[in-house]
Amino acid sequence: MASKKVGQLPKYAVAEMAAIKSRLLAEGIDVIDLGVGDADFAPPRIAVDALKNALLDPAMSRYSFQQGLPAFRESVAGYMKRRFDVVIDSADEVLPLIGSKEGLAHLALSLLDPGDACVVPDPGYPAYVGGATFAGADIELYRLRADEEFLVELETLGEQRLSRTKLVYLNYPNNPTGAIAERSYLKRTIDICARYGIILAYDNPYVELTYDGYVAPSIFEIEGAREVALEFHSFSKSFAMTGWRLGWVCGSGDLLEPLRRTKTYMDTGPFLALQKAGAVVIDAAEDCVAPVLGAFTERRAALLDAFTKEGIVSPEPRGGMYLWVPVPGQITSADLAASLLENEGVAVLAGSALGAGGEGFIRLSFACGPKRLREAVARIAVGLQRLGIG
Ligand SMILES: Cc1ncc(COP(=O)(O)O)c(C=O)c1O
Repeated sequence: MASKKVGQLPKYAVAEMAAIKSRLLAEGIDVIDLGVGDADFAPPRIAVDALKNALLDPAMSRYSFQQGLPAFRESVAGYMKRRFDVVIDSADEVLPLIGSKEGLAHLALSLLDPGDACVVPDPGYPAYVGGATFAGADIELYRLRADEEFLVELETLGEQRLSRTKLVYLNYPNNPTGAIAERSYLKRTIDICARYGIILAYDNPYVELTYDGYVAPSIFEIEGAREVALEFHSFSKSFAMTGWRLGWVCGSGDLLEPLRRTKTYMDTGPFLALQKAGAVVIDAAEDCVAPVLGAFTERRAALLDAFTKEGIVSPEPRGGMYLWVPVPGQITSADLAASLLENEGVAVLAGSALGAGGEGFIRLSFACGPKRLREAVARIAVGLQRLGIG
């Protein structure tokens, strides 16, 4: 019954895990869920208060349309200037999104025709493959390798493939590997995009979640980016607002226009009351992110320490909210994740759920506090012993 394109979509593991978790919880099992990037914090108090007030204003219950609330766009422009020293015209260089996922997937529909190539990091966030599949584009999976610092080096694709490429998705700080991109890397990537007329979708939801003194840039801090790139931001991770479904994309009005038009036919923008609350949060972004980053820093340390004590060495993530842990022994990441969930009550994401390039790893999110995380690692150690690989 489903269309051919839907038939081509890989399984969406995070969605499937939710069903297994519900079953285990119903059976009374204490599940520690580190499978999804959804931390257990409350959203900022100012967001809740602003939303409550906005709900009382009937004007906030009208259609929002694509450009959204001027106050939201102005707050975004203010944040981009304050945080990155990047000037964004709030009138036509910002689009509010119903979560950045929505915009990332719709971008492919707005830019790609069958026969166009789209470069997607493997492993990578599934919305890239989803959007490109719906667009009927040729998906060029680029394998991220630990010994190449998990970077997509476009040059290695060669002249012929680059000339067919219209869109590339990049995400640093990276989900799932925790890798970051130096400015020199971003500059050479932008130069290649400019040379081949490639649009760079720079997916930046973890820009505020960085460790060990590293501060992540906006792509627009890099010379030449304005001509080739669009940057996606999210309220989900920095401000613990995953369920609110709010984000934005910014970049030159010309590059944004196809996405704006596409969205006109797909949705009518995020609820205005949410945009009102989002504006309040982004005006106070530094204060709102501080407790989240503080807690993640502690959780990251607890997880790394617990794994080291079990004799498992994981790469130390410089950004994001995940640990990308090598799978010991010969077991596949999917079999290991299934066993850990069913037998130990710990949900982790199999690396292969984010693409074949993720095989050999499992991903753990910093979703709960240090004590629960240590408990999760202890259960994982028991699980590995049960499988004879601990
Ligand atoms: C790399 C990456 N991009 C985008 C998103 C989507 O975030 P949002 O909740 O804004 O749709 C996520 C969420 O996990 C992500 O990891």
